[in-house]
Amino acid sequence: MSVKETLGGVYKGLVSLFVKDAEIDMDNIPKHIGIIMDGNGRWARHRGLKRSDGHRAGAKTLEMITDYCGKIGVKYLTVYAFSTENWKRPKEEVDYIMNLLYEYLSNMEKLIGGRDCRIRVIGDRNQISDTLREKIIEVEEYTKERTGPTLNIALNYGGRSEIIRAAKIAAENVKNGKINLEDIDENYMSSLMYTGGEPEVDLIIRPSGELRLSNFLLWQCAYSEFWFSNICWPDFTEKHMRQAIARYQNRNRRFGGV
Ligand code: IPE
Ligand code: IPE
Ligand code: MG
Repeated sequence: MSVKETLGGVYKGLVSLFVKDAEIDMDNIPKHIGIIMDGNGRWARHRGLKRSDGHRAGAKTLEMITDYCGKIGVKYLTVYAFSTENWKRPKEEVDYIMNLLYEYLSNMEKLIGGRDCRIRVIGDRNQISDTLREKIIEVEEYTKERTGPTLNIALNYGGRSEIIRAAKIAAENVKNGKINLEDIDENYMSSLMYTGGEPEVDLIIRPSGELRLSNFLLWQCAYSEFWFSNICWPDFTEKHMRQAIARYQNRNRRFGGV
């Protein structure tokens, strides 16, 4: 561990001391949580560091939060790592993020704390490098039979492209006579999303102060609860997770009823 990383860890520990904690009801843990891991760049800028340092610190937070979610019984965690729009960033930054993901996937045994975690990468793989694509396939294969929590990493992911992709599959299936037009309903469309077969997304968390979805889980968020915070993702701690879950647990989810 570098000096920078050690200092970062100590700093984070100190900051965490001042974050308000919340009690959560262990019998009502959201089954599926989505996180928009935003604010890495600002976190770095506030400290006079490079944006890449922010992304590295963000990856550390992901390790810690994945582990924590496994511990408290969250069954599905979907994290936004790279959007279809993030290609607009300087090549240097994009390359850094892709390398970081490669590193992250290569270390995954260590990362998931020995938990029986299944890792899936969702999004369009066509644009990513062969090396990263092969690593993704390897990790998915390696973890696919596992029965513990599932971590979906959204990479080159966009909610609109996901819906278009699903619509095309449905249209193709009608054309080939595999299904009838009447078979296309909400359940069928849900099954064609990358998250098909997984429970509804109960809670979406976005740190960094932005109050938008930025093309994340557009289909899946129809009845999700939202939790926003000004904290930048690298500073996000277990306490923030508990705050978000406690808030979720205090809400009255009516799903259109009374
Ligand atoms: C999120 O952090 C990480 C990715 C989008 C890959 P940002 O890099 O967007 O951080 P800010 O929003 O500039 O602070
Ligand atoms: C959303 O964050 C994408 C990820 C966190 C991976 P952005 O930083 O790209 O979103 P905008 O640009 O603020 O909408
Ligand atoms: Mg951002």
